[in-house]
Order: sequence, then C-alpha cells, then structure tokens
Amino acid sequence: MPCRHPILFMAADTVSKTNYGKLLKRILIGLLIVLIVSIPIVYYLFYVRVTNGGLEFENALRIPEALESEMVEGKKVFELRPQLGRMEFLEGKSAETMGYNGNFLGPTIRVDKGDEVVINVTNELDEMTTVHWHGMHVPPDMDGTPHQKIVAGGSWQARFPILNEASTMWYHPHPHGATAQQVYRGLVGLFLIEDENSKSLNLPSEYGVDDIPLVIQERLFNRDGSLHYELNKGAYYGDAILVNGTLDPHVRAPASLVRFRLLNGSNARDYYFGFEDERSFHQIATDGGLLESPHETTRIRLSPGERVEIVVDLSDGEEALLKTFPDYGLTLLAEAVFADGIGNGQFDILKIIPEATDRVAAELPQRLNTIERWDPEDADKTRRMMLGGPVREGHPMPGPGPRIPINGKLMSMSRVDEVVELGAVEIWELVNRGGQAHPFHIHDVQFLILDRNGAPPDASESGWKDTVLVNTNETVRFITQFNTYADPDIPYMYHCHILEHEDGGMMGQFLVVDPDAP
Ligand code: C2O
Ligand code: CU
Ligand code: CU
Repeated sequence: MPCRHPILFMAADTVSKTNYGKLLKRILIGLLIVLIVSIPIVYYLFYVRVTNGGLEFENALRIPEALESEMVEGKKVFELRPQLGRMEFLEGKSAETMGYNGNFLGPTIRVDKGDEVVINVTNELDEMTTVHWHGMHVPPDMDGTPHQKIVAGGSWQARFPILNEASTMWYHPHPHGATAQQVYRGLVGLFLIEDENSKSLNLPSEYGVDDIPLVIQERLFNRDGSLHYELNKGAYYGDAILVNGTLDPHVRAPASLVRFRLLNGSNARDYYFGFEDERSFHQIATDGGLLESPHETTRIRLSPGERVEIVVDLSDGEEALLKTFPDYGLTLLAEAVFADGIGNGQFDILKIIPEATDRVAAELPQRLNTIERWDPEDADKTRRMMLGGPVREGHPMPGPGPRIPINGKLMSMSRVDEVVELGAVEIWELVNRGGQAHPFHIHDVQFLILDRNGAPPDASESGWKDTVLVNTNETVRFITQFNTYADPDIPYMYHCHILEHEDGGMMGQFLVVDPDAP
C-alpha cells in the first residue's frame, strides 16, 4: 500500500475543489448564455414564424346570402337543409364539404327582436346532425343540443320567439361526439338580430355592403385540394385561413365607415386581430349585444365561438389589411409550443379595398346601448367550474378528442350536472389550473364578466357574452340570470368551444327548473 501524506492529500483536494467550482461556474454561465440565446429563437420559430404570409388576395370575398323567409300566420318561416357538397378552395381541385342549403357554410338568417320564427330543418346529410342557435335564448327542446337529434333523411322544426337584443349570433351542429368534424366540413351559419335600438343608431347596416360578416376559420388542405382532418388530435389547427369559405380573400367596401361582424368559427385557434398599418378601429359589440359605448383599440382577441362587431374608418381611401398577430407576449409561449399553436403565428386574413363613395361617414354614436348590471351581492348562488385536471368520472365518449373534464367529469348524455332554479341570478366561477386556455360557453343565457383573477374585465369584454376564454392559471367569474324557460327533463349544455375538447367530453348539462311548477 502506498503511503499517502495527509497534507498532500488535503492540498490536492482543495485544488480540485476550486477547479470544479470554476468549471461549474463556466458550465452555468454557458447554459445561461445558451438559454438567453435560445429563448428568442424558440419564440421566433414556434410563435412568430408560423404564417400564411404572402397572400395575393386574389379571390373576392364570398358573402353568405341572406336567407329568405315566408310569413305564415305571423311567423317568419325559414328552411335549412344540411347537405353534402363540393368546393373548389384550391384552383382546379375539389374538396368534399358540408353546407346548409349549399356547398359550404350556410345562409345568414336575419330577424328582428320580437319576431316569431319557425325553422324547418331537413337533414340531407348521410349522418345524424342537430342545429344549435349559439348565443340565443330559446327553450331547451328548441336548442338543437345533442338531445334534438335529426337522423339522416329526417327533419326537425324549431319554433321560438326572438328574445335576444341586436347581436351577431350563429348556428352550427351539436351532435354528441361529432360536432368538430361537421363544423370543420362547413356547417356554420350566421344569425343576425336587429332591434329598435340598433336601428335607431345609424350604424353601417347594409348587409354585405357596409355591414360585412366575416366567418373566420382555419383549415388544412391535402395536396389534392381536399380538406385534411385527423381524428385523435388534441385540437385541430390549420395553416390556411378561410373567410366566409374564401381562401386568399379581398373585399371592396365604401371609403367610409364600414362594420365588420367577426365570428371565430375555427375549431381551436385563437386569433388576435388587428390591421397591418396598426390603424385603430372601434369595437361596438361583444357576443350578445352592443357595447354601452364604442371601444377604440388596435387589437381584438377572439377565441372559438366568440364574436365581435367592429367599425373601421376607410375614408382615407387606403387599403386595410386585416391580420392576426402573435398574441399577448411571451407568457403563452409554452402553450404555443406544447398546445400546437394556440394564439401563435401571424396570418393575413383579408384585404379591404376602399371604393369611392358619395356617402358621408356618419359619426359613431357615443352611446350604443344600456346594460343593466346585477349586483354580485344579490346572486342566489355561486357555482364553480374546474376546467381540466384529473378525470374522476369518465364516460365512454364517442368523440375522438382528448379527455379533459369539467369538475372532474366527462360529458354524459344521461347525467344532469347542475340544476338551476328558474329566475335565479348566479355567479359562475371558471377556474383553469390546466396547461391550456379553454373558451367556456354556456347555452340559454348571455352573461356579464365580473372579473379575471379579481380584476374587472377590459372594455372589449364589458358587454354581453356567451363564450369567454379562460387562460391558464386564471379564474373568471361571470354573472347571469336564468329566466323564461324551464324544463324538468331537457337540459342545456355548457362546454369548452374548442370543438375537439367538446367532442372529447369537456361538456356538462344543466337543467333550469321551475320550483313553482307542479
Ligand atoms: Cu356553439 Cu354548445 O355551442
Ligand atoms: Cu351555444
Ligand atoms: Cu378546451
């Protein structure tokens, strides 16, 4: 055995310790530099670079036709025929699609508050469907939920009075587990409501001329021009943007004030709209009605299911390029990377070409609407909705999406999750501790957002809503009242409006019951 001098040993030990210390420091500094350099690169690659840039804006924007109605016994009667279709999105190539009364999307239904409407739906598809009137206050048996099935070849009649105020509503299928695919293939239409107030405001309101609907949807195309859809994806993102079913669109509009009604009709993508020249514009409406006063801004965030109305001043005669920008900074980077593109990318949406006009741009009124707000103190109840987290009660879901629960439960057609008393004023507290933002939608009512993580909502969300994006680590509280309609058996739905999440079971059912009914 060699003899080791203890002092020499100590010295060697000290030397190697300081060397390690230096080395460690160097490694740490190196790692830090790599990290600092890679953040912007990752940010750029996954967050900014995603684009459909270089659009030529070759195609004239399609405007969905306004659906004619027939007056029968004082009621406006409409006909809707969901059917299979074919569309040439890419030149010379055709895609199998679905549409109402046509190949893709549906006609726009236009009504006034107070109208009595009858909508006859004939299902000409080769599969079951339903038709849901998103945002509208209708009886539960007329709501077109998974419970009002229309089998292939079958028909269904919806009858209800228009009780909602002036707003941009929409209709789409809601079959249990198959909503995402049917919407993706084209089953979406707009349902526009006017009322005395909206008509008195002198807002741009000539449909398709200075009041232009924009149904914005992302799609993925196969080389042969067909629509690409993969089952079993968590949420479906495309790289091509369709506006009213038009790829690469432009629209001509009077060089004056022009209203656009934007619907995010995508399955999963959030948009962060603005104009390339950073011009400001006025938001005048949220999902369910006009704001109290116009809100001037340069950006609008819209998650699936949400709508806004904006008024853009084109009187300077300059072309305006509507885009979607990478949104809200670095905080959602992780989500953008891991959740396949929520809110990322910059996509051209639409080129707006002003045309000379002899209209004089009317001033936007300062006051648009009166919104009566409930006092949160007067709420009868607070209900908590936990979005995401572990699944405690799983049900076999027909849909392909991921299994994300609400309050630990996946949707079951035969389970009622919540029972609300007719007339109750309630606060719903939406809590998202998961890794992804969810647009929460409730049927039957319009609500007012009380706060996001305790802070009052931005002006852009200060009006009537039926869908609200709940970000990760966020708690959103809204207040609403459940009135007019009650039914002891037929429920309404609440769900995430990422359609793959909905199909995968991120949905629940609530009854509105009349305690005084026999
Ligand atoms: Cu737009 Cu229950 O849906
Ligand atoms: Cu709905
Ligand atoms: Cu979701």
